Amino acid sequence: MDVNTVEFSAPGKIILFGEHAVVYKHPAIAAAIDLRAISSISASSEQISILSVPDLFPKKLFDLNLTPLPENLTALKFVIDSLLEVTESCKNPTIEISSQIPLSAGLGSSAAVSVSLIAGFSKFLGMDFDLHEINKLAYETEKIIHSFPSGIDNTISTYGGGILYENGVMKELSFQLSSNYIVIINSLIPRNTKDLVESVRKKYEKNPSAIQGIFHNIHNIVIDAEKALKAGDLAQIGELMSSNHQLLRDLGVSHRTLDEIVKILDEKRALGSKLTGAGGGGCVISLFDDYHRATEVVELMKEKNLQAFISNFSNDGVRNELY
Ligand code: PMV
Repeated sequence: MDVNTVEFSAPGKIILFGEHAVVYKHPAIAAAIDLRAISSISASSEQISILSVPDLFPKKLFDLNLTPLPENLTALKFVIDSLLEVTESCKNPTIEISSQIPLSAGLGSSAAVSVSLIAGFSKFLGMDFDLHEINKLAYETEKIIHSFPSGIDNTISTYGGGILYENGVMKELSFQLSSNYIVIINSLIPRNTKDLVESVRKKYEKNPSAIQGIFHNIHNIVIDAEKALKAGDLAQIGELMSSNHQLLRDLGVSHRTLDEIVKILDEKRALGSKLTGAGGGGCVISLFDDYHRATEVVELMKEKNLQAFISNFSNDGVRNELY
């Protein structure tokens, strides 16, 4: 069916346990959060196809047929071209992409943008993509953004909820964990997933047994964390988060500022804290045993000029916003 206006959103995520090791087919646990990327697409009244990404390029409209796009829009162009290649439709779209997810912060904004765009643009072109097809193309898009993605970011953004992800296979996970107890602190230090994954790869090639040892320990943490999350054992979840952070430090993907944030959180009697995502900057997540204490820490971090918030988990993955 031909549709003239569509709007789809897809959530960001936090990786609770297992980042980096997951690239090497070890398990990891992620939860979708209710901050979303939104792709709105309508039929253009002109004979041109327009892309606008106001968060990155305020007030700029790109003509998709003419303009060579800036490098950070390459992945979006890939999505658009891939979908146009398999359709007969010759409608000219106006595509606007916006996001509530902080950029370059380890919260999965690039995957969420890809997922929302794939869902929205395929629908606009009259294709009936199911979640599996959306996720598959989003994974190909992630490969453009960083060469060796595990696939966890696109999967959690497509399906939402909580998942245990291992070697390309996702298992739904229902946690006994309130998102009200998790504070997300953005160090505001931008980082690049591709560079960090690459840095780990170089270390792995140089010293495989040491890095495999770290991955093995992270793997065991994920197994224990799955049980602790199911049981709602907050003390154990917190302890495992701190151990996971230490292993990510050993892997060399933390950052002085992230470690300082973790130290402050320890002093504030967090049950546990760790970097989330690729590291090298971006966000720390921290677990508390009550909402009041968590909100106090949000205020404290804001006083330190950091971005801090509590976000609901999102059961919804990619979502049609118009009906
Ligand atoms: O920082 P993010 O949101 O791009 O997450 C990266 C997670 C890694 O495990 C480091 C990479 C991956 O593809 O899983």
